[in-house]
Amino acid sequence: MSLSHLPPDSSVAPHQQDSPSNAVTLRINASEHRLTLDNRVTLLDALRERLGLTGTKKGCDHGQCGACTVLVDGERVNSCLTLAVTAEGREIVTVEGLADGDRLHPVQQAFRDHDGLQCGYCTPGQICSAVGALAEAERGWPSHVTEDLAADVAALDADEVRERMSGNLCRCGAYGGIVAAVLEAAAESNRGAA
Ligand code: FES
Ligand code: FES
Repeated sequence: MSLSHLPPDSSVAPHQQDSPSNAVTLRINASEHRLTLDNRVTLLDALRERLGLTGTKKGCDHGQCGACTVLVDGERVNSCLTLAVTAEGREIVTVEGLADGDRLHPVQQAFRDHDGLQCGYCTPGQICSAVGALAEAERGWPSHVTEDLAADVAALDADEVRERMSGNLCRCGAYGGIVAAVLEAAAESNRGAA
């Protein structure tokens, strides 16, 4: 078939065709960022490639490893599976936003204290996920291994932490330290609430 018989734009692959873009304002770590984004850009790529917030890591880019975990309105999400334009108007927190000045977030401090990392690549996602997981337990959200489904606050033991953090993979196998760190942060949180 000659090209003259093809529709006018058929020589352009679908991914090369003009795609809708939108001006969006993303609120990240308490600062607003105005961006024009292709609607297909993920939150992960917007953070890393457009805003230079490279604390959030790209592992699998397919929702399987948890390296890209950030908090959106206080809940953990895989930023590689979230379109950036859908995050407009929501409160996004990345690992860069957890510390209070020079004072580490209690989960960050616990990871340091318990050697919850080796190469550190998975650590930002682990820490954001742990912050979200602790908030979920605080709200009484049960996990697959929770026995008391009616509890106002879900009690965390090592099995609970392993289950709740199971979406975050660590190629270094630093799981022992990670579980200890999350348990320590949970205990710290309980002490603060008492
Ligand atoms: S990079 Fe998002 S889950 Fe792996
Ligand atoms: S500390 Fe290296 S991947 Fe987790």
